Amino acid sequence: TDLPLIMGIETSCDETGVGLVRGCELLGEDVASSVAEHARFGGVVPEVASRAHLEAMVPTVRRALDAAGVKASDVDAIAVTAGPGLAGALLVGVSAAKAYAMALGVPLYGVNHLIGHVAVDQLEHGPLPKPAVALLVSGGHTSLLLVNDLATDVRSLGDTVDDAAGEAYDKVARLLDLPYPGGPPIDRAAREGDPEAIRFPRGKWGDGTFDFSFSGLKTAVARWVEDVGRAGEAIPVADIAAGFQESVVDVLTRKAVDACREHGVGHLVISGGVAANSRLRALAEERCTAAGITLRVPRPKLCTDNGAMIAALGAEVVAAGLPPSRLDLATDTSLPV
Ligand code: KG4
Ligand code: ZN
Repeated sequence: TDLPLIMGIETSCDETGVGLVRGCELLGEDVASSVAEHARFGGVVPEVASRAHLEAMVPTVRRALDAAGVKASDVDAIAVTAGPGLAGALLVGVSAAKAYAMALGVPLYGVNHLIGHVAVDQLEHGPLPKPAVALLVSGGHTSLLLVNDLATDVRSLGDTVDDAAGEAYDKVARLLDLPYPGGPPIDRAAREGDPEAIRFPRGKWGDGTFDFSFSGLKTAVARWVEDVGRAGEAIPVADIAAGFQESVVDVLTRKAVDACREHGVGHLVISGGVAANSRLRALAEERCTAAGITLRVPRPKLCTDNGAMIAALGAEVVAAGLPPSRLDLATDTSLPV
């Protein structure tokens, strides 16, 4: 085809991702993660992440080009995450992107990481109907977005006012002595538990906004664990995991469906690491079906941070004819949509 070949570079957190995309077609990608190096700290250590990006950058580009079966000289444009994310981590990606753009003589496009999480769905399910609502749930973000156009018109409907959804999973896993990252082990433990056994509070439930709050829930779980411990009883890990998870996914899916209704939108995209959650997928499917909304959830590998999502958004930005970024493109740790 004659669509431009976009190389996307992602380094906003702990994944070094590079993807090669034409339009809605993913040609190949590679991701190197430093998650194992952060595990013993129970969360991402920014300096460790930056160093890991530096070491992984060039080999990851090489592996992605090989996976796509293209040469660097075939690349027509570079897209890179300009924010939001960790300062040092973003800098490594943006510096690398500038170097590749200069060396290859191709334009550079700084793009928004959050919108990338939505754009990646096009690689799996084809062009995104307009408008759509997107729910982004990961270790770093919990956002509801109204997507009128991926390249030019995305509005924030709501956000977490404290912890991100994935962060809540990670913190509660720690309280339950489950490993980091906490999402997968809580997801598994919850399958053995009764979600009705303990009713934890629903943060910002029915408050008329599309904002979220998970710190009260985390505190409620901590108090529960403390009380059980003080009474000298065994901690019912499965029931706590199930009750906690039900609170999180109940609020997430309710507000996402409400946002679709309020804006007359028939398509919901759920993306980010927490989109891998089995209960979130099941309850979202159930509530979307009941509301006549089509649910789009990319496969787990595309939901977590990767370079393909940045290339997918880059392809949209190029297609929209937006001007490239200048070579003094700055990173922005809290870049808004
Ligand atoms: O998107 P991601 O890989 O990285 C960013 O934070 O940007 O998301 C990681 C988060 C972690 O907090 C992890 O605990 C959570 O996604 N996660 C899950 C599941 N798998 C990963 N949360 C709930 N259920 C899961 N199955
Ligand atoms: Zn992310």
